Amino acid sequence: MMNPAMPASAHVPVLVKETIEALAVRPGGRYIDCTLGSGGHAAAILNRSLLGGQLLGIDADPEAIKIAKTRLEAYRNATLLVNENFVDLPDICIKYDFFPVHGILFDLGLSSLQLGSSARGFSFQLDGPLDMRLSPSQEITAADIINTYSKAELAHLIRTYGEETNSHQIARHIVTERPIKTTLQLAKIIERAVKGRRGKIHPATRTFQALRIAVNQELEHLETALKQAVNLLGFEGRLVVISYHSLEDRIVKQFMQQEAKGCICPPGTPACVCGHKPSLKLVSKKVIAPSPTEVQLNPRSRSAKLRVAERTITHNEYFNEEYYKTTERLCSSTEIEAVGWRRPAILKELQRVFAASCT
Ligand SMILES: C[S@@+](CC[C@H](N)C(=O)[O-])C[C@H]1O[C@@H](n2cnc3c(N)ncnc32)[C@H](O)[C@@H]1O
Repeated sequence: MMNPAMPASAHVPVLVKETIEALAVRPGGRYIDCTLGSGGHAAAILNRSLLGGQLLGIDADPEAIKIAKTRLEAYRNATLLVNENFVDLPDICIKYDFFPVHGILFDLGLSSLQLGSSARGFSFQLDGPLDMRLSPSQEITAADIINTYSKAELAHLIRTYGEETNSHQIARHIVTERPIKTTLQLAKIIERAVKGRRGKIHPATRTFQALRIAVNQELEHLETALKQAVNLLGFEGRLVVISYHSLEDRIVKQFMQQEAKGCICPPGTPACVCGHKPSLKLVSKKVIAPSPTEVQLNPRSRSAKLRVAERTITHNEYFNEEYYKTTERLCSSTEIEAVGWRRPAILKELQRVFAASCT
C-alpha cells in the first residue's frame, strides 16, 4: 500500500532514520550526498547537522539538482549542489574545497521521478524513447545498444547485468525485430521471447536493469567511487551505501570487507607480502534492511540494503591522532561561528594534516 499522502511519482527516501544513525550525523559535520535525487536524505542530514553542518550534494541528472535546490532552499547557506557524476568525486571535492568529510552517502539507482517519467525511458510500463541516460550529456543511449550490439554481445550484457537466464532467447528476438525505438516495443518483444513465462516479476525487468547499468556504467562507476570516497573521509568518517540489487550489493559488501582486512595475501602464503592495511572498520556486519512497515508504506524500499563502515587511518610518522582531533574540533567550532560557506583558514590546516596522514 502506498502512502496516500504521496503523489505516485514523488520520491520517498528509503531508510532515512537508519541512514542518519549510520552516518552518525552531528552538529557542525560536513557530509557528501553522492546521489542527491530529490534531496530527501540531504534534508534529513542538514537538519541533524545544524548548527554549522554543510552538505555537498551531487547528482548526474540536472533535473534532480533543480528539484533538490527547491526542496533544500531553507538550507541554502549550508549546501552546495552540483550536477556531476560521482565517478569524479575527488576532482569535485578538490574543486569545491570539500574534504575531509564526516560522512559520505550513496543511495544508488534511480529516483521514483526518473522511473515515472516516460520521456527518460527507464520504465517498461510507460511508453517512451529507449534512452535511460542519467544525464543528457552522455552519448550512448539504450537504443544505441539495442540496435547496434551483436546477438552475442546483447546476450552477454543481459545475462551479466540482468542475471537473466533467458538472455539468449531475448537477444535473438531483439536482433530479429530491430530497429527497436520505444520501451513498450522492447517490453513486448521480451514477453514474446520468453513465451509468456512469468515469474514474480515482469519478464522485461531484468533486461531493462541490464540496459540501464550498461548505459550509465553503473557498476564500474560505483567501484571507482567507493575507492575514492574512503580517501576523502576524515578520521572515523562514515561511508554509507544503500543498494537495490544483488550486483550493487555484492560490490559494496566485498569492497567494505576487503578494506576492513589487514593482510590480503592469498590463503596459505607463509608470511604477509601484501602490506595491506585496513582503511575501514565495519560498523555493522549485518546488512540493514527496511522494516515491514516501511516496505508497506513504500514498496520501492523492499529491496534496499544499507551497509556502513568507518574510516580508520593508520598512524604514521606524519599523523598524530590527537593533533588531528584537536584541529578537527577547532575547525568545526570556527565554522559554526562563521556560518555558511566562508571557509576559515583553519580548514586548510586540517586538509594539510589529513593529506599527510594519507601518504
Ligand atoms: C535513489 S535516487 C536518490 C534519492 C535521494 N536519496 C533522495 O532522498 O531523494 C538515486 C539518484 O542518484 C543519481 N545517480 C545515480 N548514479 C549516479 C552517478 N554515477 N553520479 C551522480 N548521480 C548518480 C540518480 O540520478 C538519482 O537521482
